[in-house]
Amino acid sequence: MRLYLLKSPKRVAAAAYAHIKEILTSVSHPILGLATGSTPLRLYKNMVDDYLAGGISFRDTTTINLDEYVGLSGTDVQSYRYFMNKNLFMHIDIDIKNTHIPNGLARDLAKECLRYTELVDKNRPDVQILGIGSNGHIAFNEPGTPIESTTHVVNLDQSTIDDNSRFFDTIDLVPRQAITMGISDILKAKQIILLATGTSKAMALTRMLTKHFSADCPASFLQKHPHVTIYADESATHLLDKSGV
Ligand code: GLP
Repeated sequence: MRLYLLKSPKRVAAAAYAHIKEILTSVSHPILGLATGSTPLRLYKNMVDDYLAGGISFRDTTTINLDEYVGLSGTDVQSYRYFMNKNLFMHIDIDIKNTHIPNGLARDLAKECLRYTELVDKNRPDVQILGIGSNGHIAFNEPGTPIESTTHVVNLDQSTIDDNSRFFDTIDLVPRQAITMGISDILKAKQIILLATGTSKAMALTRMLTKHFSADCPASFLQKHPHVTIYADESATHLLDKSGV
């Protein structure tokens, strides 16, 4: 794993975007794994700005998102489909048919999970963008999720419901379940770029890097992947003994 320690969230986004752009422009039909949450928002803004300035095209890009809430339709403002359309897809030249997000309204959720894992098998991302939950989750793989997990329905941890309630009017409106790519699906990406900013991520980042990999901290499973790059700001790394990483 490589860790780049940067002064601010703005620099984290700029450095991560430079890395991602290099990957996207080195293949003819790139496959880009996307994440939601507040952390990648600046990165998506950088993608949009670069596209508008003529620096990149997404015409031949396919995207695969990590997760979606169960029970929300893509037109619901809280759904991850809505988030991606609003913050990225509607501003760039991507063909919306090539953007994939689990269907949180699928009648048969087990079938939807199988379909999604097959989709990832057939479309191994050239690069997967990840954030990290304050409890060490990646996508919605909560503590306790095994490394072999494929796409599955998850009951969200109370800490995740609490963290994500800031996006909802009341905590009662936060969905209790989500469909998420499993850890083994995430590890299929050719490269992984994880972003961590802010003090609320400091403990999770430290556990991810310093603990022997374990399901207690799902992000620690990334130690198993040969090409992981972490871009983090000073607040997210303040608990690390930097000499030991
Ligand atoms: C959600 C998403 C994760 C994301 C996490 C952190 O739980 N499922 O993919 O990494 O939130 O979000 P934020 O970047 O807002 O802290």
